[in-house]
Amino acid sequence: IKAMSPTSILGNNNDGSESAAEFNWDELGFRLIPTDYMYVMKCAKEDKFSQGSLLPYGNIEMNPSAGIINYGQGLFEGLKAHRTEDGRILLFRPDENGQRMKRGADRMCMPSPSVDQFVNAVKQTVLANKRWVPPPGKGSLYIRPLLMGTGPVLGLGPAPEYTLLIYCSPVSSYFRTPLNLKVEDKLYRAISGSGGTGGIKSVTNYAPVYTATTDAKANGFSDVLFLDSATGKYIEEVSSCNVFIVKDNIICTPHIDGAILPGITRKSIIEIAIDLGYEVMERAVSVEEMLGADEMFCTGTAMIVNSVGSVTYKGTRVEYNTGPETLCAKLRATLVGIQTGCLEDTKSWTV
Ligand code: COI
Repeated sequence: IKAMSPTSILGNNNDGSESAAEFNWDELGFRLIPTDYMYVMKCAKEDKFSQGSLLPYGNIEMNPSAGIINYGQGLFEGLKAHRTEDGRILLFRPDENGQRMKRGADRMCMPSPSVDQFVNAVKQTVLANKRWVPPPGKGSLYIRPLLMGTGPVLGLGPAPEYTLLIYCSPVSSYFRTPLNLKVEDKLYRAISGSGGTGGIKSVTNYAPVYTATTDAKANGFSDVLFLDSATGKYIEEVSSCNVFIVKDNIICTPHIDGAILPGITRKSIIEIAIDLGYEVMERAVSVEEMLGADEMFCTGTAMIVNSVGSVTYKGTRVEYNTGPETLCAKLRATLVGIQTGCLEDTKSWTV
């Protein structure tokens, strides 16, 4: 995607909305900053997505009986666009998000855009909002595609109409790091094993973590680590990201078993670690094993890759290695280097 230079985007405000020129990029966090346009594409239940359009960003009208509102028939995705030093804008593996949306749509009984339609819609959204892609080193444009049952239903069943809506917001860090996690041993994020919805980005997987995360945050923790619902002995994931442990330079992460979200950052970090010569195991990781690890880190689109400084389980706190010498720091530097165009993208991950 050819973009304007970082300086030429500034002051390019033509609709009276908050200007990117007046925006202090140093104050970015992970909160909504409305941008100029959103992308909308609709289709009927038995139909295929065909034609979408860009609309000014703003509220949407929905029938009170819409499937998403009443029965949670909806998915979301998350991906980022980065501005490079030489003025290009890079997306990171957007086809992976498109494929994941298709898998989720099958599980939630929804039609979905093709991967090409998805990637094209993401590109259009980014280009229409390109002045909101932060300058290099200041953050990224977080892109949030939604696939929703927007047609009215009263009885339980698939909605008669669906909408792909994509909006975006400039962001920087999701968390102050290193993370201090609390292990939740009473509430679960997803049912264990295959058959549930933990492995898709269903909107219904996210609000149920709030009770645990609100309590943990009120007690000074950054977030909550959830355990498997069948035995409570194995770690699954943090409310918004995947987890890895490192012991004697061997990296382990819970395997994708239906309950774990197949994160695109997770997948990329595994590939980067293997390329760098590390052994990576995708398998069940017990709480005991985690408590004995040297290092622990989290991965996610919003999160990127961040060290876990401590984990507290049933009142016992365990600390992990953090800082610039960690494997986490090395893997993060490689990933971010590729995402921002600072390192050669030998895998053609960026678009
Ligand atoms: C993402 O990393 O894109 C996520 O899904 C996290 C989100 C819950 C903020």
